[in-house]
Amino acid sequence: MECGSSHLPHLLLLFFSLLTLSVGKRSPDFRICAYNVQKFDKQKSSNYKVLHTLTRVVYRCDICLLQHVVDPDGSAIKKLLTSINRYEGFTYKSVSSKPLGRSPTDMQQYVFIYRTQTVNETGQYQYQSEPQVFTRDPFAVQFQSSRTKINSFVLIALHSEPPQAVTEMNQLHDVFLEVIKKWDNKNVMFLGDFHAGCAYMTRSDKKNIQLFSNTSFSWLIGDKVDTTVTDKTNCPYDRIVVHGKTFLKAITPFSAQVYNFGKQLKISKSDVTRISDHFPIEVTLRSRASLPQVMTLMSLLLSISVVTQSFVSL
Ligand SMILES: *[C@@H]1O[C@H](CO)[C@@H](O)[C@H](O)[C@H]1NC(C)=O
Ligand SMILES: *[C@@H]1O[C@H](CO)[C@@H](O)[C@H](O)[C@H]1NC(C)=O
Repeated sequence: MECGSSHLPHLLLLFFSLLTLSVGKRSPDFRICAYNVQKFDKQKSSNYKVLHTLTRVVYRCDICLLQHVVDPDGSAIKKLLTSINRYEGFTYKSVSSKPLGRSPTDMQQYVFIYRTQTVNETGQYQYQSEPQVFTRDPFAVQFQSSRTKINSFVLIALHSEPPQAVTEMNQLHDVFLEVIKKWDNKNVMFLGDFHAGCAYMTRSDKKNIQLFSNTSFSWLIGDKVDTTVTDKTNCPYDRIVVHGKTFLKAITPFSAQVYNFGKQLKISKSDVTRISDHFPIEVTLRSRASLPQVMTLMSLLLSISVVTQSFVSL
């Protein structure tokens, strides 16, 4: 009797240390980001401070969509990739759309930068509205990642033109129909600077946007979120929208947010605005249960049985 009770504290200690281990070993969730980098061109990429900060921002993400990239010869993105790949551990690649726009003086690209260790790119598709509805037609890329629960999914990028924002957002439903037909994949996420707020999208405009009225689509960044940097505005311009229950279930609850890297990385407002007047937005996908998780669960069960046995033997 006395012998049994003196062992008990040790066994409980073992039990709790295994419990801590199982929490600590959880593999990180899969992060998807979108950032309007406000004319990221050769000149901007030559600014050391901008490049350094942007590197830190993109490196947090498994996939990062940059919008408003002005880089027809690819040199600015190449510079950014070289900077990111200097960090040890991961290798990033990029997929870019063609320069898109109505005016030769304002041609912009969508660029997806992704971590090759955690995700594969499995297809690209440039939507073309006919007649042209979008100023910059949405660009879709299909990804596959065995790290995520959902495995295969499509990301559709949009940087809308402010006065046409409502019309463009409504047209996204057509883009959706085309994309799901092309790849037979309904796991679709829309992301980017839609200008979905303030003067460009009022409360009454919402009924004219199919992605709002149709409950198959979930808006993960809410109407009260401020994705702008300046204190003068409070607008939810940048958004993340997913289609279907499958995708919604694959999202880490409450993970969609603005990433205020000024606050998080202690970077001054002037250095933040040196990159853009927007903050990045992000969401994380649940990861598939990994081997360490399964093993710690087994050792947990083992320790429970040890504790129980010590009670039985008393
Ligand atoms: C990427 O594709 C390769 C080849 O199909 C596969 O072996 C690998 O597991 C994939 N990576 C991820 C993270 O899914
Ligand atoms: C909502 O959109 C989905 C996907 O396009 C479609 O299958 C469904 O019929 C739509 N629902 C309504 C009420 O329009």
